[in-house]
Amino acid sequence: MDKLEGKTAFITGGGSGIGLGIAKACCKYGMNVVIVDARQEALDEAMAYFNEHILPVRAIKLNVTDREAYARAADDAESFFGNVHLLVNNAGVGGGGPVETMTYNDWDYVVGINLGGVINGIMTFLPRMLKHGEGGHIVSTSSTNGIAATGASITYCTTKFAVAGMMEALATEMQGKGIGASVLVPGPTRTNLGKSSAANRPAHLQNEETPPPPPPPPPDPDFQARMADPAVWMDPVETGERVIRGVRNNDLFIMTHPEFKAGYKIRHDAIMRANPDEPFNEKRWDIIKNFRTVIYNDLYEKQRQIGPPDW
Ligand SMILES: NC(=O)c1ccc[n+]([C@@H]2O[C@H](COP(=O)([O-])OP(=O)(O)OC[C@H]3O[C@@H](n4cnc5c(N)ncnc54)[C@H](O)[C@@H]3O)[C@@H](O)[C@H]2O)c1
Repeated sequence: MDKLEGKTAFITGGGSGIGLGIAKACCKYGMNVVIVDARQEALDEAMAYFNEHILPVRAIKLNVTDREAYARAADDAESFFGNVHLLVNNAGVGGGGPVETMTYNDWDYVVGINLGGVINGIMTFLPRMLKHGEGGHIVSTSSTNGIAATGASITYCTTKFAVAGMMEALATEMQGKGIGASVLVPGPTRTNLGKSSAANRPAHLQNEETPPPPPPPPPDPDFQARMADPAVWMDPVETGERVIRGVRNNDLFIMTHPEFKAGYKIRHDAIMRANPDEPFNEKRWDIIKNFRTVIYNDLYEKQRQIGPPDW
């Protein structure tokens, strides 16, 4: 989707952080924007900015886990601005902690929003985009934890890996249908994730037990102070600009931070190393390479050929 002016974006978690940064970038490129968020105070604060700058933004309070409310929000967006062309499934919560302390409530909470919310977005908007036929694009926010795992983040990693795979499958299936799909993989970004994650947890998914003690401090005593340095964290508006470039370029992967490359490579090398170094079964190989979009997906080859994004 290279022409954005006059088109409409629907951004979940748009009241804060990365979603708000994407909303601001969309406005800069002449789009109408609908921001949805579970926190009214975040929407109010964001709308103060958009109203002051006289920008075409509509705010709707929505919990992305509520499917009926999601459909109503989509109806509202369409009756206000017309067809929606860019869906950004960005609402999410953090989910840290050692695996042995995780409860079903922890799993249900993080999976419900980080994965269920993205499923609800696609189920609500993809049929509408295909029906209006004006082209569209779906971006879903994963994480560096959706490409490579870290410890003490099993619920988060599970959902973010799922979101990445979902966008790859969606992009594959939508080829030739005028709908692009991208997975956004932000590194450290200056947002309110810590605060909002606790605020968005509903009563029925609170834990009864006392929370586990925080993990022991890292061995480097200066680490916390260095981590608090604002320079470490990307400005969400910069993330938003990178999303816009990714959408225009139809990039499958929108990666924002260069510092994770070595980690991704080591993971992929480990996968390659684990493959049996044995002669091919020629009949099986014939089937695999000719099934293309089912087993040997040339989407990846096409993405490789368009080259690195034009930063
Ligand atoms: N900040 C980072 O460093 C970072 C890095 C990688 C990925 N991410 C991902 O980026 C996305 C945006 O997070 P952020 O860092 O901008 O945090 P943020 O807290 O500033 O923004 C997230 C917004 O999502 C909203 N939200 C949460 N649950 C919701 C629900 N059920 N329905 C509707 N809205 C809901 C929150 O109220 C909040 O306003 C998340 O998916 C997060 O996992 C963030």
